[in-house]
Amino acid sequence: MQSLHHHIRFSIGFLLFFLFIASGRGHAQAAWSKSYEHAIVVTAEERASLAGRDILRQGGNAVDAAVAVQFALAVTLPRAGNLGGGGFMVIHLSDGTSQSLDFRERAPLQADADMYIRKGEYVPALSREGGLASGVPGVVDGMVKALNKYGELSLNQVLQPAIELARKGYPLSYKQAESLNYYAPKFRKYQGSSNYFTRDDGAAWKEGDLFLQTDLARTLQRIADRGRAGFYEGKTADLLVEEMKKQNGIISHKDLQQYESVWRNPVRASFGDYELYIMPPPSSGSIAITQILDMLEPYDLPELGFNSAKYVHLLTETMRRAFADRAYFLGDPDFAAIPRSELIDPAYTKQRMENFRWERASSSEDIGHGEVPSFQESTETTHFSIMDGEGNAVAVTTTLNGSFGSKVAVSGAGFLLNNEMDDFTAEPGEPNMFGLIQGKNNAIEPGKRMLSSMSPAIVVKNNSARMILGAAGGPRIITATLHNFLNMAVFQMTPSQAISVPRFHHQWMPDTLYYETLGLSPDTRQLLEAKGHSLSPSDGLGRAHTVYVDDEGIKFGAPDPRGDGMAAGY
Ligand code: DON
Repeated sequence: MQSLHHHIRFSIGFLLFFLFIASGRGHAQAAWSKSYEHAIVVTAEERASLAGRDILRQGGNAVDAAVAVQFALAVTLPRAGNLGGGGFMVIHLSDGTSQSLDFRERAPLQADADMYIRKGEYVPALSREGGLASGVPGVVDGMVKALNKYGELSLNQVLQPAIELARKGYPLSYKQAESLNYYAPKFRKYQGSSNYFTRDDGAAWKEGDLFLQTDLARTLQRIADRGRAGFYEGKTADLLVEEMKKQNGIISHKDLQQYESVWRNPVRASFGDYELYIMPPPSSGSIAITQILDMLEPYDLPELGFNSAKYVHLLTETMRRAFADRAYFLGDPDFAAIPRSELIDPAYTKQRMENFRWERASSSEDIGHGEVPSFQESTETTHFSIMDGEGNAVAVTTTLNGSFGSKVAVSGAGFLLNNEMDDFTAEPGEPNMFGLIQGKNNAIEPGKRMLSSMSPAIVVKNNSARMILGAAGGPRIITATLHNFLNMAVFQMTPSQAISVPRFHHQWMPDTLYYETLGLSPDTRQLLEAKGHSLSPSDGLGRAHTVYVDDEGIKFGAPDPRGDGMAAGY
């Protein structure tokens, strides 16, 4: 019965959605898209979108709403929203200034490059689950810092929606119940997770069950009362360190005290009339997207045609080259010398495409990284987009890395810890859980941030924010964000069309062109295979939640139909 309900709702949603697409960039309203809004919040989860909207209604700006959404997602989307993880925020204000905040996790001080080696062998499970998989969480420091600099409301005010959702509970949706049930065997391995995320009577969760999180509500209240000290010191910190001891983890009080989020200059890319402000390293997306856009600049993309074999081939070859550079050059800029400006120098990207051929796919084995002049060598995610009534824009991508992170919840404190250590190069040449092969600039070092693909981005035209972009999906984030931009900027799609149409992805290694099932026609696939591409069908390449502002200033919110997000505006 419940699944039938779900199915009917899903089908109606799809029907309305395709009617909307069929109506083109008109004034139609889709079930999942609001337009004409004064302010708009698009997140992966309905209650979190409403929490952000309520904060805007109370007079908060886009940053206030973003902080409220981040905390609300920690309650309503425990598989990705979090207190025990990290993320990135990109801000573009209506006065034309832009800024980005890095609240990525850091390796604990006791971490070292061999921490996942046992008897001479790399053991991937150790960086993916359990106490040793976690980096030092950055979310709470990041949110407090963002609010202190830009917020108009108090921490207490923006935390209220999250505290209420945790304390009073909320009825689980079908998908929420399903994902908790799927991971129940993992949760049962850890006492805290078992208490919080499985039912006391041992039965499976059902749609509509009330999901209460009283310990989490108390942790959120401590943050409301004491700011960052409510998390990194006192009771929450004690509980976290205690949990570490139980799970053979290494995060200490000193790690928590020393954690600091960092303001960084966004990478600025330009393409046609657009300027893109993208999260800089330790996000790799900014460099990769800028390189790809530069490599595409000489070509007439509309003439190639959306998702034609030629278009897919050209983009794939640019992706292959950008991801090869990602693997070799990128890492935490505070630890490794990242040749940021060299990698996005148009002369360099032009040279990278000199061996591009229309007739044949390159081989990833032959491509490798580029040669950068005078470079000194040294040593379930979720995205949301918010625009307030003043035109201030905020893009945030935040994660525990895998779904429900390390699967370890802190007993007594009610929140899950991340398994972000898997984003480091745990062993050179070995793929991480996203199949990424990475280099020594991303090797584990105490206090270092692991390289990320999360790419929150804000696209500006004539000094005002026109697109707020970003996605979930590991390395697919980079290509999903790129597709969404190109679909709107080059192919003039509506935002809902842009995020819905099929995507494809190539990440250098493995040398595989992934395409969304049914996304490429059989004759297009044949043409690509004839050029030498190795194709593989794939489900859902990234989940993006986008805001778009058209030439008349009308705001559109477009949640990705691959997830169950929602746009809320007023
Ligand atoms: O930072 C990164 O690149 C990964 N930790 C992101 C993980 C992710 O997107 C999971 N998926 N939906």
